[in-house]
Amino acid sequence: MTETTKQSANTDCLQEQLGYTERVKKLISKRYAQQPLAFVHTYGCQQNVSDSEKIKGLLVSCGYEMTDSSDDADFVLFNTCAVRENAEDRVYGHVGQLKHNKRKKPGMIVALCGCMTQQPTVADKIKRSYPYVDILFGTHVRHRLPEFIYRHLAFQERVFENSDSNNDIVEGLPVVRDGTFKAWLPIMHGCNNFCTYCIVPYVRGREYSREPEAVIEEAKQLIASGVKEIMLLGQNVNSYGKGADHGVNFAKLLRMVNDLEGDFRIRFMTSHPKDCTEELLHTMAECDKVCLNLHLPVQAGSDITLRRMNRHYNSQEYLKLVKTAREIMPDIQLSSDIIVGFPGETYKDFKCTLDLIEQVRYYSLYTFIYSPRKGTPAAEMPDEISYKEKSKWFTELLERQEQISHKINESLVGKTFKVLCEEKGREDGHIIGRTEGNAVIDFCGDESLIGTFTSVQIIEFDGSLKGIKKY
Ligand code: 5AD
Ligand code: SF4
Repeated sequence: MTETTKQSANTDCLQEQLGYTERVKKLISKRYAQQPLAFVHTYGCQQNVSDSEKIKGLLVSCGYEMTDSSDDADFVLFNTCAVRENAEDRVYGHVGQLKHNKRKKPGMIVALCGCMTQQPTVADKIKRSYPYVDILFGTHVRHRLPEFIYRHLAFQERVFENSDSNNDIVEGLPVVRDGTFKAWLPIMHGCNNFCTYCIVPYVRGREYSREPEAVIEEAKQLIASGVKEIMLLGQNVNSYGKGADHGVNFAKLLRMVNDLEGDFRIRFMTSHPKDCTEELLHTMAECDKVCLNLHLPVQAGSDITLRRMNRHYNSQEYLKLVKTAREIMPDIQLSSDIIVGFPGETYKDFKCTLDLIEQVRYYSLYTFIYSPRKGTPAAEMPDEISYKEKSKWFTELLERQEQISHKINESLVGKTFKVLCEEKGREDGHIIGRTEGNAVIDFCGDESLIGTFTSVQIIEFDGSLKGIKKY
């Protein structure tokens, strides 16, 4: 599609859905004596959290008021995750519980969406075994929620829509943001990498970047509304703009956001190591608003495992990238995702992961036991190690990382950082602030500081970081 036709298709789509919001509003004003309440629960990653903010925007436009309690709600929606089996199991459990809610409140509408529901097998199972689910839709059509609600209310139809047309970026959707001073800003959707364990490319489709102008416009609005931290989001932000003719790659986009006026921070995730360029590292170093913090998932330390995961780098290349990043930004804090117990991984392979984390010295790790995902190549690979054994390795990894994080935290004592004050501390009169490197510090401070930057000196680490506010 050419740029103009793409834009007009987008505008038509938005207008059509805004038309449906008006129709839904009329229907629900007849159906309910009071303004109906909607509850949205999000499973999984930040991308899902960001999608839910748009879903809430659409629900509010349809005339619903948001509630934090599924018991009170007239409309309950679960935005699901398919990355690991336990996330899926939790969804099934929670959907099962809704049966009782619906018995108590027969007019309640139950809706499911997200990565799980994009899978035809899941959609079929829900259709057959959970007859009280009224609406189910996939990741590519979430902007059509007003239409789905309308069809359900007007025709008592069970609406099941999870086609995989890759046309899921509709600009201009209403948003209800969860926070006031930290915001998610999706810059791209989907993934082309097909790591052999991962379901994401199957449920979120091919990579698709937003136009730089749309990203910048949204960033400007966020800054004008007082947002102090913008998280640029994508499954692989480093391939932003690939294939587009505007010539703006991720490093350039980062510079464009950095050049916007205002006192705010920029973070981004996730960076695939194979696409992390020196240009990006230099850009991070040169852009004062970009946090010195890089989430660079390695997944495993063994070259054999990395190859079988289809990650397109080996441990030496990864370590070289880390070295370069530290040469360019000596104070950078790194974090990573690790999978323990990938099919065929031996204890010897796993030891390579332990060695690698010792060498890199990440500030924090997101660790997962491998979970087979139907339809992915890894799910077909022989997997001889028991879950019990993998759990032992997992604990060993956590303990090793705990020691590393502990040492890094100790080395921060005495230093002063600019922190974003995020929430109240455990004790009265205390505040929790976060440094650009993601250190979380508890210090004495007034609640009015929340949502602002301040300077804090770290004075102690006793399992958590304690500081004092500098004036
Ligand atoms: N099993 C375990 N962890 C997984 N991840 C993705 N797929 C799986 C899986 N099948 C992890 C990866 C990824 C993170 C978001 O989730 O570490 O980086
Ligand atoms: Fe999954 Fe790999 Fe894509 Fe990340 S880069 S979403 S792990 S396929």
